[in-house]
Amino acid sequence: MNYTETYERYLRSAEEAIQNTCRRMEFHPSVLGESMRYSLLAGGKRIRPVLFFAVCDALGADAKQESDFAVALECIHTYSLIHDDLPAMDNDDFRRGKPSNHKVFGEANAILAGDALLSFAFDLLLAACERGPRQRAAARCLSRAAGAEGMIAGQSADLYFSEHGASESDLLELYRNKTARLLSAPVEMGAILADGDTAAAREFGEALGILFQMTDDLLDEKGESAKVGKTLGKDKAENKLTCVRIYGLERSEDLADQYAERCTKAILKLAGENEFFLSLIKSVRSRDH
Ligand code: IPE
Ligand code: IPE
Ligand code: MG
Ligand code: MG
Ligand code: MG
Repeated sequence: MNYTETYERYLRSAEEAIQNTCRRMEFHPSVLGESMRYSLLAGGKRIRPVLFFAVCDALGADAKQESDFAVALECIHTYSLIHDDLPAMDNDDFRRGKPSNHKVFGEANAILAGDALLSFAFDLLLAACERGPRQRAAARCLSRAAGAEGMIAGQSADLYFSEHGASESDLLELYRNKTARLLSAPVEMGAILADGDTAAAREFGEALGILFQMTDDLLDEKGESAKVGKTLGKDKAENKLTCVRIYGLERSEDLADQYAERCTKAILKLAGENEFFLSLIKSVRSRDH
């Protein structure tokens, strides 16, 4: 099976798990469930759940039995996007090629859809915790990555630095928290569940997460909005802290190459069966959406 076929296979597993969980998102009045499902099923790349399935496969954890970790992660990621798009944050009208959650359901409902997806994720994690100590450790890994020591710290810094000067190390810290923690979480959780090398998992996950946000910043500057599915050029307009602001376009491209190289070195330490990951690193480096 080539890279695209393997990605599709993991994607199908992820979609199936997400679809099954969505059946529980029906409430009265119906707007809450509708707004949760609208964003969750809007067709993201699902790179985080795909990574979870791939790492479980490579290291020997039972991905199917543990799929709630992938669903919980995608719920948390989706909530972070709904809130990130709100007028009080990035004020973005498009997401995943569709109107943002608040453009369809209104700001108040969008806030609640995000809140509900986050709480829902913890319900899934708590149920998984009953299966044993590895599951408890994996759940803790995700909860730390999502909160004030992780993604939320990054989002807070993102707001702060659009109004203040920043250094290279501020940028790196922002990348680590805002994006790398949630992108590394599936790799780390897979390693925890398989009793694998969690330090190597973290090294690979963090480098990939930083590369992922660099390419997100590059796409905001030079991508095509029809492909990316978001309004572009907003980072510059809002003076966001991005690699382009600190290094300019050309040096940012070089830096992204360096991080791709770092990812490659790290994956060799983590997994013997690494062909899929080597292709994934290349596709993140050269992505157009
Ligand atoms: C967007 O994440 C937010 C960032 C952390 C850059 P993705 O690019 O993974 O978004 P979807 O899930 O594919 O829509
Ligand atoms: C990542 O940063 C957002 C989250 C951590 C939710 P961005 O604000 O750059 O993400 P996009 O470009 O809106 O997807
Ligand atoms: Mg943002
Ligand atoms: Mg944004
Ligand atoms: Mg962006």
